[in-house]
Amino acid sequence: MGIMREIQHLDPLPRHVAIIMDGNGRWAQQRRRPRLFGHKAGADSVREAVETARKIGIRHLTLYAFSTENWQRPSLEVKGLMGLLKNYLQSELDTMKENGIRLECFGQKDRLPDDVRNMLDSVIAATKDSSQLCLNLCLSYGSRAEMIRAVQEISRKCAEGELKSEDIDDQLFSDHLYSTGQPDPDLLIRTSGEQRLSNFLLWQLSYAELYFTEIPWPEFRRDQFLAALEEYAGRQRRFGKTGAQTETANS
Ligand code: FPP
Repeated sequence: MGIMREIQHLDPLPRHVAIIMDGNGRWAQQRRRPRLFGHKAGADSVREAVETARKIGIRHLTLYAFSTENWQRPSLEVKGLMGLLKNYLQSELDTMKENGIRLECFGQKDRLPDDVRNMLDSVIAATKDSSQLCLNLCLSYGSRAEMIRAVQEISRKCAEGELKSEDIDDQLFSDHLYSTGQPDPDLLIRTSGEQRLSNFLLWQLSYAELYFTEIPWPEFRRDQFLAALEEYAGRQRRFGKTGAQTETANS
């Protein structure tokens, strides 16, 4: 069955989906393989998620690929993940350009190894005018660090007279986050059974629908993604209003 027929019942589609890609390590260990084997399979799930999002018309996809805490993992695993990332960027550049995908990075880019950062910068530059799908890779990302950085930048502007404290509102704060200019995620997916946010997009996820699945990330492929979108389509989002108010607004 073609994907366009499959998605008829996925209305409304989220504009922005964020994913915590969890469970690569456990998936590999269950198979008595090294953790990196799980990350490799996870990279294939990343390719499939991006392809699926683009085909069905999701406009923003944000993937938690490496957290500020992940630097504490054994150096061999960190090295392996950085290698996979570079490999992914290299191999996907042409596909991204052909398919109108714009790459952005949320996180402390300056902490990444030089070769990964250079590759990342060149893909970001090469895809900056694309507008079909914005793919945000979160690398050395932590939500608290992101918010502290925003507060520091805003206070600097206040001290220099560029801003007044009364100017600070939701919008201004959002504009100082990595996600500036993008809508907040409508849907958060976390794979592999854990039900927590783990310092991911704490500000931006304020009104997101949360979807947790037991499926580990390496097995989260197109059908599992479509199942999450189907569940999202069936939920009623009220943004603090009553159900009746929301229905009137939507009719
Ligand atoms: C969580 O699994 C996953 C990560 C820390 C890394 C995510 C990386 C990828 C999906 C592959 C490379 C990324 C790209 C963009 C190509 P875990 O290791 O924490 O799993 P566990 O909880 O079972 O140990």
